[in-house]
Amino acid sequence: MTKRLRSTDLHRLDALVQEVLAIAQSKPAVDSLLRKRLFATPGMGGARPKATVQDGDDYWLVKPGLMTDTLDLALLEHATMQWGSKAGLRFADTRHHPLGIERSVIRILRFDRRGAQRIMTVSAASLLQVQYPPVEAADSIAASYPRLAEELKRIGAPPEDGIELFGRMVFNGVVGNNDDHPRNHAVLFDLDEQRWRLSPAFDVVPETQDDPGALVMQVSAGRYDITREAMLCDCLRFGFATHADARDHFDSLLKRIADSFVEIAPLLDAALRKALQERLQTMLAKLGLAG
Ligand SMILES: Nc1ncnc2c1ncn2[C@@H]1O[C@H](COP(=O)(O)OP(=O)(O)OP(=O)(O)O)[C@@H](O)[C@H]1O
Ligand SMILES: [Mg+2]
Repeated sequence: MTKRLRSTDLHRLDALVQEVLAIAQSKPAVDSLLRKRLFATPGMGGARPKATVQDGDDYWLVKPGLMTDTLDLALLEHATMQWGSKAGLRFADTRHHPLGIERSVIRILRFDRRGAQRIMTVSAASLLQVQYPPVEAADSIAASYPRLAEELKRIGAPPEDGIELFGRMVFNGVVGNNDDHPRNHAVLFDLDEQRWRLSPAFDVVPETQDDPGALVMQVSAGRYDITREAMLCDCLRFGFATHADARDHFDSLLKRIADSFVEIAPLLDAALRKALQERLQTMLAKLGLAG
């Protein structure tokens, strides 16, 4: 029998967040049992503190905002993830909890668990055999969206996953998520389909300072720039039959991203809403047909 993950229940989310933050700040335990459990379960990796919470059969990754954040990053991540879903892309489900006035937390449905069952996942960094952060030039060159699309095909994922990956690349460009490194993409072994699939999208968060001009992964051979031309020139490697098909897909996706902004705008506070609205306008002008 598979061992159940020992996770904290959702109703204890507040206590869990307090403990995760205390650990991040090297402070003594608020709740020593909770701390013991946190240290006994393997960490998820990534730059920011996180933990897992259980709700029935579902496991959720919990990422609290930090005191050092100048913006509500948990809210920004939640709204962006919802935006991706509303635009028709396959994003991990999220919930947002405001905890107090200046603190909030996002939880993201874990795609590597189904009840007590563990779903095998592999990061794109492993699949592409690249190191992240890159240790040599070859790592940056090999961390590429079209190459990842080809690897997906090679491991038996269906053609729609290549197209989905293309969509995520475009979405990252439009919202300005330039933290799209190869450990922020993954594949999973789908137990029902008995084949590898691109995992749901996760950790999609717009850069909050300047509008990024480039992504971390190559959008086409030798190109990182967020431009219509660079994103479309290797389109056949994602599985599009023709360049015209890819252009149509690109344009309808831009429209869906633009149209769905109104649905997620109410989730945001005034400052974030203004920032994302401006980002969207700039990127649409740059990436649209006129751009
Ligand atoms: N919904 C999910 N289901 C399963 N595993 C996940 C999920 N979201 C993230 N992970 C895993 O946890 C790791 C850390 O999560 P995430 O990338 O969101 O955190 P982060 O600290 O913001 O990362 P980064 O270092 O990229 O800024 C990911 O690299 C991935 O392996
Ligand atoms: Mg990450």
